[in-house]
Amino acid sequence: MTEAASPGCAARAPVPDLGEIARLWDAHAMLGNIRRHSEVVCAVALLLQLWLEQAGHPLDRRVIRAGALLHDLAKTPCLGSPRRHDLEGAAILNLLGYRQLGEMVLHHVTLPADNPLDETMVVYYADKRVNHDSLVNLNQRYAYIAGRYGKDDPLLLARIEQGRKRALEVERLVFASMSHRHTPDEVTRRWREMEPVWRDD
Ligand SMILES: [Fe+2]
Repeated sequence: MTEAASPGCAARAPVPDLGEIARLWDAHAMLGNIRRHSEVVCAVALLLQLWLEQAGHPLDRRVIRAGALLHDLAKTPCLGSPRRHDLEGAAILNLLGYRQLGEMVLHHVTLPADNPLDETMVVYYADKRVNHDSLVNLNQRYAYIAGRYGKDDPLLLARIEQGRKRALEVERLVFASMSHRHTPDEVTRRWREMEPVWRDD
């Protein structure tokens, strides 16, 4: 089923509910470990959304939940191939009419330089904090990416380093927007508080 995005927010685009998200996971044969990764990203993203809302930056919770749970929708068929799961995931969601989610998925690997503080930025940052299903800081995350995908290639490693710097910039913006009432380390300690929350409708 499709539901409207939360009232009072700029986004009015349709958003799939949890039943529809589970059907999409099944339809695209999403592996169990990728489902779990997506759930952890979702809990992290919703914790950030709550803190941002408390600091006067309301974002659409249902859009963040769906974007986080679907950001790796096309990952399984792309594993071990040069296919791009960000492009393929975005195309699937666009075809289904979920254009806002398509944009989020398109930008979850590399966030455009001019992207404002929005649902897309929150999901992008949350994804960078979760390695498989474990919380990590950005330096740990990018060290893992460099080890796994850098292949000792200076060009690839430079691109990964660029990604690390961009993620750090986003981290500074997100926590400054909360007037520094919270810290990146606090996410690691508290994300589990949102585990039961994201399952609520
Ligand atoms: Fe991810």
